Amino acid sequence: MSDLVKRYTASVFFDQRLWQADIRGSLAHAQMLHAQKILSDADWASIQKGMQQIQTEIENKQFNWQLDLEDVHLNIEARLTALIGDAGKRLHTGRSRNDQVATDIRLWLRDEIDAILQLLQQLQIALVDVAEQNVNTIMPGFTHWQVAQPVSLGHHLLAYVEMFARDFDRMQDACRRTNFLPLGSAALAGTTYALNRQMVARTLGMVNEQGQANICQNSLDAVSDRDFAIEFTSAASLCMIHISRLSEELIIWMSQNFGFIQIADRFTTGSSIMPQKKNPDVPELARGKTGRVVGHLMGLLTLMKGQPLAYNKDNQEDKEPLFDTVDTLKDTLRIFAEMMGGQVDAATGKKSGGIQVNAKAMSDAAKRGYATATDLADYLVKKGLPFRDAHETVAHAVKAAQTQGKDLSELPLSTLQSFHASIESDVFDVLSLQGSLHARNTLGGTAPEQVLLQIRRHRQRFN
Ligand code: ARG
Repeated sequence: MSDLVKRYTASVFFDQRLWQADIRGSLAHAQMLHAQKILSDADWASIQKGMQQIQTEIENKQFNWQLDLEDVHLNIEARLTALIGDAGKRLHTGRSRNDQVATDIRLWLRDEIDAILQLLQQLQIALVDVAEQNVNTIMPGFTHWQVAQPVSLGHHLLAYVEMFARDFDRMQDACRRTNFLPLGSAALAGTTYALNRQMVARTLGMVNEQGQANICQNSLDAVSDRDFAIEFTSAASLCMIHISRLSEELIIWMSQNFGFIQIADRFTTGSSIMPQKKNPDVPELARGKTGRVVGHLMGLLTLMKGQPLAYNKDNQEDKEPLFDTVDTLKDTLRIFAEMMGGQVDAATGKKSGGIQVNAKAMSDAAKRGYATATDLADYLVKKGLPFRDAHETVAHAVKAAQTQGKDLSELPLSTLQSFHASIESDVFDVLSLQGSLHARNTLGGTAPEQVLLQIRRHRQRFN
């Protein structure tokens, strides 16, 4: 091989991060070979010792990763053989790099998903904390980016909690299918050795909720499909898309034209030329990185498409997109939990530094947008008007209020009555932002009572 081709075909510079999974898988395989009397006591003991030594070398950055040895698997095996001789060469009995790599990625991804689940939970907790402080903070709810009806900021934030809860579910589900054992499939057709796959699966914790071993049941499928990686990246893409939508809102809410919120300085940057600037770099980057993760999903789907059974070298290209998806998602979730909810002070246990809310700017915006117009229409309907007529009457009232530069609730009763005689002084209860908010007291609605119920439900979920 020329140096160029060597570099082209090697994966060691990125797949070395699978080293822990690789050693773990090898030890589980060797232990089983020993139990099946395929490996001697002495060889099994040497393999354990050698792997221990390799682990220390890698941890201390003393391991000499070699491009000539192509990938993580051959690098570790070559070092093992250098350390313990023939026992190292016997490790690969009844195994191929094809079932080895499939096992490694599944093991690695399974543990990463566990970490992601924790981070997703922390982000949800952060959002619920901020929601709880803002049950009665009223902001304009938008449709078509036009002021629609008043909503509680708490309610708005809990919408994202719902999204992240579904992301959590999807991740768990993807993890369930990832946690299956390919090892024992060998190159593609199974092996002539009397392996005990049950035992390997159990050693590696590849079991279902009932404690039964999760074993890939078809050797051709086991070594070749990467659908679990695609599923994970799909769930990660959706999660990033939810983060991206939130980012978009934070960016707009932070702009001077809205002034709804501030985020802590450490998540923003200034401008080199405009001294007044505080740019929302973190949400912007998260929005940008969403494109990158969605791109990885497309990459993996396209990688799989058209591959005949069984293993093909194409599959080596699964790693970089998968690694980058995991890294991007984990960093993003960690940063967002802190940016939204703040940091816990180790000494006092108190959280600080989350988003700062300007409640007045929010309620002013709701008033400017005539957010309670629907409430006036509903009021007239309750007085006996057909809804379509009520709608038209309110449109006239809004127009009049606009010319006077006032909110509906600021018009005198006599003016309101000129639009319809049935309007009485109790109209002001429904025209206020508070009145409008409290009136939407149905399950899933924005009334503070409902928002508090949802907060309680979420808190129970977290326990
Ligand atoms: N580095 C390879 C990969 O990532 C390992 C499997 C290689 N198998 C083979 N038959 N060339 O897919």
